[in-house]
Amino acid sequence: MAQQTLTITDNRTGKTYELPIADGTIKAMDLRQIRTSAEDFGLMTYDPAFMNTAACRSAITFIDGDKGILEYRGYPIEEIAEHASFLEVAYLLNEGELPNAAQLKKWSDEVRYHTYVHTNIIKFLEGFRYDAHPMGMLLGGVGALSTFYPDAKNIEDPRCRYAQRVRLMSKVPTIAAFCFRNLHGLPYEFPRNDLDYIGNFVNMTFSIGGKHEPNLVLQRALEILLILHADHEQNCSTSAVRAVGSSGVDPFSAISAGIAALYGPLHGGANEAVLRMLDEIGSKDRIPAFIEKVKKGEGRLMGFGHRVYKSYDPRARLIKKVAYDVFAQTGMNPKLEIAIELEQIALKDEYFISRKLYPNVDFYSGLIYQAMGYPTDYFTVLFALGRLPGWLAQWEEMIGDKEQKIARPRQIFTGPARRPYVPLAKRG
Ligand code: CMC
Repeated sequence: MAQQTLTITDNRTGKTYELPIADGTIKAMDLRQIRTSAEDFGLMTYDPAFMNTAACRSAITFIDGDKGILEYRGYPIEEIAEHASFLEVAYLLNEGELPNAAQLKKWSDEVRYHTYVHTNIIKFLEGFRYDAHPMGMLLGGVGALSTFYPDAKNIEDPRCRYAQRVRLMSKVPTIAAFCFRNLHGLPYEFPRNDLDYIGNFVNMTFSIGGKHEPNLVLQRALEILLILHADHEQNCSTSAVRAVGSSGVDPFSAISAGIAALYGPLHGGANEAVLRMLDEIGSKDRIPAFIEKVKKGEGRLMGFGHRVYKSYDPRARLIKKVAYDVFAQTGMNPKLEIAIELEQIALKDEYFISRKLYPNVDFYSGLIYQAMGYPTDYFTVLFALGRLPGWLAQWEEMIGDKEQKIARPRQIFTGPARRPYVPLAKRG
């Protein structure tokens, strides 16, 4: 077998170094020995946005972006989405294996029994303005939870960490549902622990006067959407959870950071942006003009493109199928026609082909959420509910990883060289 090393010659000094290669990577710290003099800091890598840097070892989610493969703990997303429940997936991501019947019952019961939040959380949420964006409320609400559970700081204790994971899985849907009710000016609907995870959440959002007729097809569609969003290895929000969590802060604060990252339009906020884009286009005849604008760099085709997937996003394929199941129940969403035509045109256009831009998970999810009755502002909250078990699993993995330390990237300093302070009177 060929030697698993990399030989580097530093042409500044003529010196040669041999660095070990493991798992297709070299250790960036191994470059530090490459220096021009004893005072030289040593060579670093420059990798804005971590385009080519593995920041951790992870056994949770595998993605092959070129082949369009996504697996949770080795199970293909297609099989998981067809057969598993969301709580099963949450267990799988966090514990590493699918639960047996007794384990699933214990996990489901634990999550079900912690759905209530302290009533002061309600007062806290009531302090938001009537038109507060639900993602702002969610990240504030989840961050505030940390003050109700000071024991959560005890992150060295695995049992304590488990208790916080249960609390977050239980209480985030409750806060998310309260954000929905705020959006509609409706009184908060409290959790019903006789319902299952999805049924309880849907009931807390849509129940009026204590009544809601569940549509099980729509509930399963929502569950599949949450499963498809459950983890996606080191994406922006997961990296935020890991980076913030690496400081040793409690998980409520770390997850709140993940929610903040997800809020952005280039990440989870894209599902909301897709709907606004479809509204802006308005009708099929205006699609070519919109595409031309995008090609000129005047805006992006939201719901297209992905940092990792360069052939197709397997989640987008599954979501398109869910869309038809949902529309069979709710009637066709007229924006679907615009979306389908937009997709067809873009997929044949050289601009998108040459840049390997394909529909991503967000292209169709917003249309489905809208058909279910969720307003545009709320879509990213649903993404957050889906991503929660992934954030928790990644946080847990990070805490247990002896190679991890507080996240602290380096920089290339580009500012002024050292200079003396200028008193105010002497400044021009
Ligand atoms: N519309 C038009 N052009 C695009 C798009 C798009 N959606 N995405 C990328 N490009 C172009 C970009 O302008 C660049 O062109 P050029 O080489 O001529 O400068 C090229 O494609 C490469 O783009 P990039 O920004 O370097 O790619 P990236 O890997 O940094 O960005 C992305 C990935 C997802 C942020 C980006 O594709 C994008 O902004 N998409 C739209 C927003 C979106 O749908 N986000 C949801 C992502 S999936 C859900 C999630 O995981 O959050």
